[in-house]
Amino acid sequence: MQAIVCEQPGVLVSKEQEKPEIKEGYAQIRIKRIGICGTDLHAFEGTQPYFSYPRILGHELSGELVETGGATGFENGEAVTFIPYFNCGFCIACRSGKPNCCTQINVCGVHVDGGMTEYLNVPAYTLVHGDGLTYDELALVEPLAIGAHSIRRANVKPGEFVLVIGAGPIGLGIMEFARIAGAQVIAMDINAQRLDFCEKRLKIQHTINPAMGDVIEALKNITNSDFPTVVIDATGNQQAINNGFEYIAHGGRYVLVGLQKGLLSISHPEFHKREATLMSSRNATRVDFEHVINSIKKGWIDPGNYITHRVQFDDVTAEFASWLDPATGVIKAIIEC
Ligand SMILES: NC(=O)c1ccc[n+]([C@@H]2O[C@H](COP(=O)([O-])OP(=O)(O)OC[C@H]3O[C@@H](n4cnc5c(N)ncnc54)[C@H](O)[C@@H]3O)[C@@H](O)[C@H]2O)c1
Ligand SMILES: [Zn+2]
Ligand SMILES: [Zn+2]
Repeated sequence: MQAIVCEQPGVLVSKEQEKPEIKEGYAQIRIKRIGICGTDLHAFEGTQPYFSYPRILGHELSGELVETGGATGFENGEAVTFIPYFNCGFCIACRSGKPNCCTQINVCGVHVDGGMTEYLNVPAYTLVHGDGLTYDELALVEPLAIGAHSIRRANVKPGEFVLVIGAGPIGLGIMEFARIAGAQVIAMDINAQRLDFCEKRLKIQHTINPAMGDVIEALKNITNSDFPTVVIDATGNQQAINNGFEYIAHGGRYVLVGLQKGLLSISHPEFHKREATLMSSRNATRVDFEHVINSIKKGWIDPGNYITHRVQFDDVTAEFASWLDPATGVIKAIIEC
C-alpha cells in the first residue's frame, strides 16, 4: 500500500509500505478521507514543536472499519472516525477523566505515524461510530471537537459575549460551538477574507479587524462597555495572545487554544483587578466528539462550509505546499482515497 511520508521539513514523498498486520486490541481502518490541518502544514514547514521525522502525517480521518479489534458494538464495514490522541490510561490526567492531556500522550500523525495511508491500525478504544455521517463529515469531526472542547472548558452560558481571536479552521469551529451554546460571538482576525467568511458563511454578527481600528473601542461598542466574559485565542500568535488579556471582562475567563513557543506576558495588576481565570484547552475527549456528531446530525453545523479544496490521494505530494499559502483561500483541504 502507499503512504505519504514527511521525511524531513519540506520533503513529502509517497512510498510503498507493508499493510499493517491485524493486532490484538487494535482496530483496522481503510482510510477514505484525510483532512489537512495546520499541524500537518507546520510539520512540513518544520515549525511543529512536538515533531520527529520521518513521519506519516494525518490525524483528521474517516474510513471503513475492516477489523473491529474487539471493540464492543462495532461491526466490520461500518463508517467510523476515531479519537487520534492515544493515552496511557494510568497517569494522573487519565485517572482524572482527562485523557486529552495524558502525560504519555501519543497523537496520531505527530508522535506516531498517522493516516495518510490506505490502512491504519488504531487502538480499538479510540473508535467512534459514524452514526450516519458521510466520510467528508466524519473527517471534520476531530478539528471541530477542538472547538467544542474549548467551549466546554469555558463553560459558556447563553447570552454571554464570547470573543474568538483567530478565524482559521480551529477558531471557526470555536465560533460555531459558542453559537450553539447560545453565546453572542465576536470574531477577530487580521485577515479580512476570513472575517468575510465569518459574516457570510457562519452568519456572525460582530467582527473586528485589529488592523483597521481600535479593538478596545470596538469591544466597548459591541458589549455595552462590559467586554467579553469569555475570550478564546485561536491564533497561536504570541502578540495576539498577550493582547488578549486586555479584552477580558471583569470576572471573565481566557482560554488558550492556540499555542506558541514563547512566554506569556501578563500585567499582573490588570489580571488581578479582573479576578480573571486563565486556562488552556488541549485536544478533545469522547464527549466532545459526540457533541460534534450530534450537532452535525441536527444541522446546527454544516461541515460543507469548511471544505475549500479537494484532492485525490495520488496528487497530494504535488499539491501540499500550495496549502501553506493563505492566498489560496484554503480553510480545509480534504484528501479522497
Ligand atoms: N488546543 C488544541 O488542541 C489545538 C489543536 C489544533 C490546533 N491548535 C492551535 O490552534 C491555533 C489555530 O490553528 P489554525 O489551524 O486555525 O491556524 P491558522 O493559522 O489557520 O489560523 C490562525 C488565524 O489567526 C489569525 N491571526 C494571526 N495573528 C493574529 C493577530 N495578531 N490578531 C488576530 N488574528 C490573528 C490569522 O490571520 C489566521 O486566520 C494554532 O496555534 C494551532 O497550533 C490547538
Ligand atoms: Zn488537526
Ligand atoms: Zn495517561
